[in-house]
Amino acid sequence: MKLLITGGAGFIGSNFVHLLRRERPDWDLTILDKLTYAGNPANLDTVKDEITFIKGDVAEPADVRPAMQGCDVVVNFAAETHVDRSIVDADDFIRTDVFGAYVLLEAAKELGVERFVQISTDEIYGEVLEGFSKETDPLMPRNPYSASKAAADRLAYSYWATHGVPVVISRSSNNYGPRQYPEKLVPLFITNALEGKPCPVYGTGEAVRDWIHVRDHCRAILLLIEKGENGEAYNVGGGNLLNTLEMGGAILDAVGADKKLLEHVPDRPGHDYRYALDSDKLAALGWWPEHDFAEGLRETVEWYRANEGWWKKIKSGEFKRWWKRYYQDEGRA
Ligand code: NAD
Ligand code: TYD
Repeated sequence: MKLLITGGAGFIGSNFVHLLRRERPDWDLTILDKLTYAGNPANLDTVKDEITFIKGDVAEPADVRPAMQGCDVVVNFAAETHVDRSIVDADDFIRTDVFGAYVLLEAAKELGVERFVQISTDEIYGEVLEGFSKETDPLMPRNPYSASKAAADRLAYSYWATHGVPVVISRSSNNYGPRQYPEKLVPLFITNALEGKPCPVYGTGEAVRDWIHVRDHCRAILLLIEKGENGEAYNVGGGNLLNTLEMGGAILDAVGADKKLLEHVPDRPGHDYRYALDSDKLAALGWWPEHDFAEGLRETVEWYRANEGWWKKIKSGEFKRWWKRYYQDEGRA
C-alpha cells in the first residue's frame, strides 16, 4: 500500500505518520509538505529514513502529480489552520485549503487513486449552541478558515458524486497532543505557563470546544482508510466539552501553575461559542476515543516540558512576529 500524506510535517499529519509507522510498518509513505511556518521537519526526525519527504505545494499541479503517481491512498491534511490568522488575512486559506484540495482531487481523478481522505473539521457546522452536530446537519461556517474548510469538504464530496473519486471525509473536533504549533490554545497556554507568562482568554472564556487526543483522531483516519464508505463524512469527537476557562484551568493544574495566569483579553471577532459532535456514525464502524482526558493532557504537558528546544525555537522566531502583529504589543511576546 502506497500513501501520499499532504501536510505530514504539521501537527496531526506528523502524529498520523508516527501512528502508521507503528501500526502499518509495511506501508510506503510519501509526505508532500510546503513547510510553511507550521510545517516542521523536526516533527518527522525519528522516521526520516523510513519515509519519502517531498517539499512541495498542494496548490501546484506540477508538485502534486509526480508525488501522487503510483499512490493507492491520499490523505489531505495540508491546510492553513489558525482561525485568528484567517481573520487577519485569508489569502493563503483560500489558496491552500480550497484550491489545493481541488488540485489534489483533480490529480486523484486522473491517476485513479483508490481512497482519498479529506481531513475536514467540526468548525464547518458553525457554532452549535445546543445539541450535537450530525453529519447531515447544515454547514454554517462563520469565519474564513471554517468557510474554506467547508468549501473543500463539499468539493471533495462532489468529486465522488460527479467523478466517482472514492472520497471519505473526517470531521474532527479540536485536537490536543504533542507537536502542535504554539499559536493554538493548548500549546500556547502550556508553554506560556511553563514560562510564567499570562494566558490570554478571549472574551468571557465561555466558548466551548470538544477536545480530542490527536492519536484518537489519527486512529479514526486509519479506520476510514480501511472501512469508510465512499462519499460519506464522519464526525470524530472526543466527548470532552470544556469552555476556555475550564480548559485553561485544567492546563494550569497539569503544569502546576497559578490560575492567576489566565488573563481576559478582547474577544475574537465572529467567535464560535460552541462546537459539539455526535460521533455515532463512526462508532458504528468500531471507533471510540481511547484516551482519558486528564491523562492525555498530563502526557501532553510532559511532552512540552521535555521538548523545550522544539517550542522555544518556534516562539522566538515566526511565532513572535505573528503575536506582535496580532496584539500589536511586543510586551506580551
Ligand atoms: P498544522 O497547521 O499543524 O499543519 C499544516 C501542515 O500543512 C503544515 O505542515 C504545513 O507546512 C502544511 N501546508 C500548509 N500549506 C501547504 C501547501 N500549500 N502545500 C503543502 N503543505 C502545506 O495543522 P494541523 O492542526 O495538523 O491540521 C491538519 C489538518 O487537520 C488541517 O486540514 C486542519 O484543517 C484539520 N483539522 C485540525 C484540527 C485541529 O484541532 N488542529 C481539528 C480538525 C481538523
Ligand atoms: P484555537 O486553539 O485557536 O482553536 P479553534 O478556534 O480552531 O477552535 O482556540 C480554541 C478556543 O480557545 C477558542 O474558543 C478560542 C480560544 N482561545 C483563547 O481564548 N485564547 C487564545 O489565545 C487562543 C489561541 C484561543
